[in-house]
Amino acid sequence: MSDFPPNLSIRPLTIEDIDKCVQLENKGFPKEERCSEQKFKYRLTVAPELCSGLFIRDYDYKYNFINLPEVAEELEKAHDEEDDLREDEDFPAKSSVLKETLIGHIIATKIPGEKITEESMELGTHTEKSRHIGIHSVVIDPTWRGKNLGPLLLHDYIQKLSNQDVGDQVVIIAHKELIPFYEKIGFNDNGESRCKFADTTWYDLSIDLVAKDDNY
Ligand SMILES: CC(C)(COP(=O)(O)OP(=O)(O)OC[C@H]1O[C@@H](n2cnc3c(N)ncnc32)[C@H](O)[C@@H]1OP(=O)(O)O)[C@@H](O)C(=O)NCCC(=O)NCCS
Repeated sequence: MSDFPPNLSIRPLTIEDIDKCVQLENKGFPKEERCSEQKFKYRLTVAPELCSGLFIRDYDYKYNFINLPEVAEELEKAHDEEDDLREDEDFPAKSSVLKETLIGHIIATKIPGEKITEESMELGTHTEKSRHIGIHSVVIDPTWRGKNLGPLLLHDYIQKLSNQDVGDQVVIIAHKELIPFYEKIGFNDNGESRCKFADTTWYDLSIDLVAKDDNY
């Protein structure tokens, strides 16, 4: 059986997701590198369209674990026995989302300058007219790491932003060992950052947002 998470879904985050984001941040980062609840509140309020969540969804009825034929077959049988076809329609009751578990997030704002600085991480610095989207947090739940979900979430993020024309560039700071991780996704390594957040050395990375031609 594959250990790839079932029923993955990526959607923009909202302020209502704040508790899940804070819990995931706490699980994923050492204390000194975590974003505070107050900053989540700020970022999810002023720039929810720049924040993306990777969820595992639990559905009602048979669409849960649809990727496992034996489970689907069992559920199908149970469902037939219940005979709960709607009287006025010719198909089973609609499947609905029962639960969403957040397993990855990207949190960003539009930053005043072209690079992430300690100042750009502060409350009140989101700059709507800026063309630079600064990622403040990327994290995958430790249980689900090593399955390429980080790249999946980042590719989706870049692709959607590119076609929405919300900015020209996405920037981030990262530790040296993660430079190849970001380069593989398409980011450029711009060298050591002047940002000394958490008293450590960071590297500036950036990726241009280029809208894809509809005809490609
Ligand atoms: C960094 C992170 C988002 C990666 O997500 P992930 O889905 O677990 O990524 P994977 O482990 O599947 O790795 C994808 C690729 O990146 C590489 N990679 C992942 N983490 C790495 C690390 N710490 N150092 C070097 N390479 C790494 C993997 O080797 C893999 O390379 P491959 O495609 O050549 O095999 C995740 O480890 C995480 O949440 N870390 C803690 C928070 C963090 O550091 N966030 C980044 C802030 S800048």
